[in-house]
Amino acid sequence: MPNLPELRTTVASVEFSNPFILGCAPPTRDAERIIRAARMGWAGAVHKTVVIPPTKDPTPHIILRSIDGYPFVNQNIELLTTYPVEQWEKWIKEIKSKAPSDFVLISSIMGNPDPATWIEPLQRVQDAGTDFVELNVSCPHGSPEKYMGAYVGQDAGLVGKIVKEVKKHAKVPVSVKLTPIVTDIKPIAQSAHGAGIDAFTIANTHGTGIIGIDIYKDEPLPSVKGLSTPGGLSGPAVKPVVLKLIHEVSSVVPEAQIFGLGGVSSWYDAVEHMMVGARAVQLVTAVMWHGYGIIDNLKQGLVNYMNERKFSSVEEIVGRVSNKIVPHSSLDFEEWGKTFVDPEKCIACGKCLDPCRDAGGGALYYDADAKVVRSNPKDCIGCGLCINLCPEGAIKLLPKDEAEKKYNESLLKPVPSLSSRLHRAYQRDYVDPLIKALK
Ligand SMILES: Cc1cc2nc3c(=O)[nH]c(=O)nc-3n(C[C@H](O)[C@H](O)[C@H](O)COP(=O)(O)O)c2cc1C
Ligand code: SF4
Ligand code: SF4
Repeated sequence: MPNLPELRTTVASVEFSNPFILGCAPPTRDAERIIRAARMGWAGAVHKTVVIPPTKDPTPHIILRSIDGYPFVNQNIELLTTYPVEQWEKWIKEIKSKAPSDFVLISSIMGNPDPATWIEPLQRVQDAGTDFVELNVSCPHGSPEKYMGAYVGQDAGLVGKIVKEVKKHAKVPVSVKLTPIVTDIKPIAQSAHGAGIDAFTIANTHGTGIIGIDIYKDEPLPSVKGLSTPGGLSGPAVKPVVLKLIHEVSSVVPEAQIFGLGGVSSWYDAVEHMMVGARAVQLVTAVMWHGYGIIDNLKQGLVNYMNERKFSSVEEIVGRVSNKIVPHSSLDFEEWGKTFVDPEKCIACGKCLDPCRDAGGGALYYDADAKVVRSNPKDCIGCGLCINLCPEGAIKLLPKDEAEKKYNESLLKPVPSLSSRLHRAYQRDYVDPLIKALK
């Protein structure tokens, strides 16, 4: 039997049994939930942000949007914990006594711009036995109006002062949870690093945004008795921004210990976070959408991937593409590639034709005799648009000469009938999965 790859990872020398951690949000609102998740295999959890006094939420405060049934974006106007710190002191003890011994409990806390206000919540959670502390300098709605949250996290100097004060009193490692709502995250990360921070959580929610309008009731959403307020955005839509932010922080603080957070819904997203520098990932929206049970697929998917790539530890994934993200001007501007459409794969659905004609080079055309779409390399500008649209993976970007050669050869070769191409696609998409499911 092959050795299983090592899913264990460390952040600021704290060991996690796997890289999947519940981020700070409704799935970590109380001890009962956190203990249940811990027993299901989550390696750690960041409990809802403790602030003195606790906060209240409007009804409703969460709104989700999907595309074709797939989760896309989540907006919330939820504040911090609704429970007093005394309750969290009891819950931290309960979680530490009932969760598996290797489960890592991370306590999120918040004060205001006065560094001294962070010390009481810090001492109370660490005296109760937490393993790690996360500084919420990044809540983007409600809090900034009170000079808290992202108001603090947008000011590199303030972040440095708070980290310095917290580190004087901290007995456990401390992560600072950064806000993505900044022009440049790098000086903020550098300031926290200079003040002695142990880790970074990148990042809190984005925007802020107004997710939509009920155009029949004339109400902005989420509607709280007809009124709304901009709120933090999360979910798959924010992942590209987070990948960039993780990369930027690790480029200025190469030794940064990073929890990636934002848009992770699958093991694949997690690997992407790790490849730009995260050592573990936190998840929120995906858990709000599907529940704690996704942990099994996350872990199994990562094991399968690591076996396939022959990686024996998570460490081998961390930062793997960091030195391949370069300034725009460092890219190669040679026009090296043209597309080739594989006539054996094309099912003549036509999804690529109008986009190439109207937004690309106009290279794609329908060959009515062969009932197939072809790309004339002479007109292809190598923009890559059509490759994203083809449901069959029939379009490839190839070196110019190769694309031209294949195109010319394909014109002389007979093409399998359209019905046989459609049959193959139908078999793959419907019949094979059904047979597999029935087995
Ligand atoms: C409903 C909701 C409540 C949240 N509450 C908190 C919070 O109390 N403290 C905090 O630091 N982040 C909070 N967040 C932000 C998340 O921890 C996380 O940064 C964000 O959701 C991005 O991750 P995701 O794309 O996996 O959802 C909250 C997010 C949501 C959706
Ligand atoms: S790469 Fe651009 S120009 Fe070339 S075929 Fe595709 S859409 Fe058309
Ligand atoms: S999108 Fe793909 S399958 Fe559909 S016509 Fe274009 S090349 Fe063929």
